[in-house]
Amino acid sequence: MQVFNTHGAHQHTNVIHHHCSGKENRRVHRRMASCTTTKLRAATASDAETSSSRSGAPSTSFLRPHLLKLAPYTPIEPFEVLSQRFGRKPEDIIKLDANENPYGPPEEVRRALAEMPFPHVYPDPETRRLRGALAAMNDIPMEHLLVGCGADELIDLLMRCVLEPGDAILDCPPTFTMYAFDADVNNARTITIPRLEGFKVDIEGIRQAVAEHKPKAVFLTSPNNPDGSVMSEEEVRAVLELPVLVVLDEAYIEFSSEPSKIKWVQQYDNLVVLRTFSKSAALAGLRVGYGAFPLGMVEYLWRAKQPYNVSVAAEVAGCAALSNVEYMHNVRELLVSERENMMAQLKAIPYLEPYPSHANFILAKVVGRDAKDVKDKLAKEHGIMVRHYAKKELSGYVRISVGKPEHTSAIINALKAMA
Ligand SMILES: Cc1ncc(COP(=O)(O)O)c(C=O)c1O
Repeated sequence: MQVFNTHGAHQHTNVIHHHCSGKENRRVHRRMASCTTTKLRAATASDAETSSSRSGAPSTSFLRPHLLKLAPYTPIEPFEVLSQRFGRKPEDIIKLDANENPYGPPEEVRRALAEMPFPHVYPDPETRRLRGALAAMNDIPMEHLLVGCGADELIDLLMRCVLEPGDAILDCPPTFTMYAFDADVNNARTITIPRLEGFKVDIEGIRQAVAEHKPKAVFLTSPNNPDGSVMSEEEVRAVLELPVLVVLDEAYIEFSSEPSKIKWVQQYDNLVVLRTFSKSAALAGLRVGYGAFPLGMVEYLWRAKQPYNVSVAAEVAGCAALSNVEYMHNVRELLVSERENMMAQLKAIPYLEPYPSHANFILAKVVGRDAKDVKDKLAKEHGIMVRHYAKKELSGYVRISVGKPEHTSAIINALKAMA
């Protein structure tokens, strides 16, 4: 099975699909990946040439075998590359494909970065200043908090600490693809519990799969990427009652009216809540994310993490962003109101069916025409980047990040011109 993660890389996953609809209506099958990627074949061939004069063993033979099943890394293309390809200045490209925040961080962040006193000294391995500020903001003791190089790093760190090779995680696709990706990297199995109508999490399916497969962790995302739906308090509690570690990814929670469950980690020993500065705080480029963990667990994550995982710049930027909470609130309000504006206008496009969203993006079903073609035309003819998915279940959809009002006008005009 080939899936694309949000960073543009795609990979083959060891997936067990666990479809549970009601009683015993279950279909479970496992698809193992085969190592047929061009990049790997090329690497093996060139190694063979050089290795014959030395040990005779290709360099790939030193790798853990399961890693050879990963598909080649395909980096997401930066502004400069897109700019050349589409013959437009970088500032003329409208980037609505990665749920970044176009308002950027408050002025305090640029100032603090410019005045950073000790860039030549290693950062604080415990990110004490930032954790202190986060603890105050979230009203939770800082001992529960660990900061990472984005929430992405924390997903990987957690899996490295929790999973033995062959262990399983539960994934509820369509969702953020890094869970399945990191499970693959850690040689774990991914058991999928596909979402129900309206992208609702299949709680009964999760319950049955926990009983049957005994996964180590279940990954829940609220609001969910790519559709923006949220889980209710009762739904999250129902999963927390199960004998499994629940990782609740709240990367987009600031755009929703649902309160964060971050303080719940004080009551539940099987809950981890992930948050990020990439979206509402507009620091995606500086890579700052954080997690709240049960106290018993976090001690061991400290032992396993890279000591300098958060750079001086990242911590300085995070602290400066938190020093102007009002700015962040205002930006969030602007994006939420723009989301509703964009939603109303997308509904009027005859070939689009947008889904209600609690995040800073909208997923729309493309009806009666090819979604990839819509994405390509927006990029080539209008310099507007949106997200399209190669994965079969989502190939008929596009996801559009919420930008500034002028970005909405540009994409709506482009979509109308294509009608
Ligand atoms: C649901 C979800 N979780 C986590 C992340 C990663 O966040 P970070 O930029 O902090 O690594 C993303 C990024 O798009 C996301 O969509």
